Amino acid sequence: MSKGVLPTHVGIIMDGNGRWAVRQNKKRTEGHKAGAKNVELITNVAFSMGIKTITLFAFSSENWKRPKEEVELLFGLLKKYFKTHIKKIIKNKIKLNVMGDLEGLPEDVREIIKKQMEETKDFNDHVLNIALNYGGRAEIVKAVKTALEKGEEITEESISKNLYTYDFGEPELIIRTSGEKRLSNFMLYQSAYSEFYFTDVLWPDFNEECFKKAIDDYMNRDRRFGNINA
Ligand code: IPE
Ligand code: IPE
Ligand code: MG
Repeated sequence: MSKGVLPTHVGIIMDGNGRWAVRQNKKRTEGHKAGAKNVELITNVAFSMGIKTITLFAFSSENWKRPKEEVELLFGLLKKYFKTHIKKIIKNKIKLNVMGDLEGLPEDVREIIKKQMEETKDFNDHVLNIALNYGGRAEIVKAVKTALEKGEEITEESISKNLYTYDFGEPELIIRTSGEKRLSNFMLYQSAYSEFYFTDVLWPDFNEECFKKAIDDYMNRDRRFGNINA
């Protein structure tokens, strides 16, 4: 049905930083640094191919279980990412959006995010959506509560409308690196009809060629949505 058509929205579960580091006898934190560097490369490749929206899973609501030192380093890297990339993001007219429980983030991280979302809110060519302190189940619960507060009837449509991603559409493709084959609470509602692409490549090694291979794989699939082949 959509063979040969580029996806408009791609979700990426950027997994495997820790194993990448351990395999090289480095500390896990080195893996996160390498992973953070890869974000710019892959988002640039995606946007230059004409993909409109990229949603990156950067920190799940379950990742707080990790050692304090690792969590602190991750937020330090995120802060650095937001600070060093904002000029380029604005220059390239990218809307920066962060989805998740922002109130549960360290205050300094939350303040930077809010400011940068405000600064880029009018851009619509491309969207860089970052899932931070995000959980798919919590998102669904929040959407239902919001719909009820607005006096809306609970329907598939009203739930969809109150999800973080409503303006960006559902991801046609979700990529997960590092060989794990699960969603880990990522975009549960939105992925009902997503295509999945799993690769053993660890996130810091997931380069332009790997990304293009995933897109090519997607473009050769038949998506039927319950129908039969046309
Ligand atoms: C993904 O890499 C980054 C985050 C979850 C923040 P991991 O840190 O999960 O790496 P592995 O899965 O332990 O190798
Ligand atoms: C999912 O990876 C979250 C991110 C990539 C940010 P995890 O490494 O936390 O997932 P599990 O624990 O292996 O399912
Ligand atoms: Mg992992």
